[in-house]
Amino acid sequence: METQLNQIREQSEKEFSGCSSVKELEALRVKYLGKKGELTAILKQMGTLSAEERLVIGQLANAVRSETENRLAERLSELKTSEMLESLESEKLDITAPGRKKHIGHLHPITAMEDEIKEIFMGMGFSIADGPEAETDYYNFEALNIPENHPARDEQDTFYITDKTVLRTQTSTVQIRVMENKKPPIKIISPGRVYRSDAVDATHSPLFHQVEGLVVDKGITMAHMKGTLETLMKRLYGEDCKIRFRPHHFPFTEPSAEVDFMCFNCKGAGCRMCKNEGYIELLGAGMVHPKVLERCGIDSNIYSGFAFGMGLERTAMRRYNIQDMRLLYENDIRFLERF
Ligand code: PHE
Repeated sequence: METQLNQIREQSEKEFSGCSSVKELEALRVKYLGKKGELTAILKQMGTLSAEERLVIGQLANAVRSETENRLAERLSELKTSEMLESLESEKLDITAPGRKKHIGHLHPITAMEDEIKEIFMGMGFSIADGPEAETDYYNFEALNIPENHPARDEQDTFYITDKTVLRTQTSTVQIRVMENKKPPIKIISPGRVYRSDAVDATHSPLFHQVEGLVVDKGITMAHMKGTLETLMKRLYGEDCKIRFRPHHFPFTEPSAEVDFMCFNCKGAGCRMCKNEGYIELLGAGMVHPKVLERCGIDSNIYSGFAFGMGLERTAMRRYNIQDMRLLYENDIRFLERF
């Protein structure tokens, strides 16, 4: 027994110092000191010894046990410390390393343009109105004083879903919807998508965006229209921006005008940008036709109003100096990142 104990003492000492992880050490603890461990087995046999032997062997056994326990605890704290140091080393965070750049997107130029225009009009007391993109023939044409067979339909020849349902060709449809549902004073803009059967080129697309505006109240005149549109232009293109009105025809306004603004490139002198005109066409406008008011139940002897409609794409193209409308729809990141 004495030799056995000495063997255990020697062997465990070797094994403890040779072991390299807390986990391995735990296995050694079980091997020697566990319920079925080697040392425990010897201690259990003490009862078979004579009283004298027990005195000597007992002392030795207890010494070996407490020694083993102490060495185990010592080795355990050594291993824990080194494992902690190791994990600190391997999980080290280098706060001096350069950060990884987050790629944050931004608004599409058309959305940005729309937001800017909304902002300008809200500042003038307008609210925003909305309407469906699939419209009835009535709201898109009939109520806007464009009867069937009227040549004005040709200009906007469009996508029919059924005989009486079209993809709207203009946001002027929202004029009618608002006037049918609300009594004057009315002061709204309605931005949205519109569709026309145009072939795709640098300045045309079968799908584009418009912002329509409508003001109806007592005593509204063309002076209000001019003032409103001039404010818009100045906000968009700067205080020195000049606009001009040219007579035009729209079935739903009378009189009607097309509004141009002074070329931002040559300041009216004439250049490639404005095709030597000095001015660039920006929007259609006019005084709401009495027939249109009456059809919506508004007395044209008491109320008058003006309306206007502008293309968002072309406004954005001028604003951001984009030469080809197609770039706005291709979603090429290299192009969009320019803004
Ligand atoms: N809806 C017309 C167009 O699409 C523009 C317009 C709107 C003209 C309102 C006059 C008044 O061309």
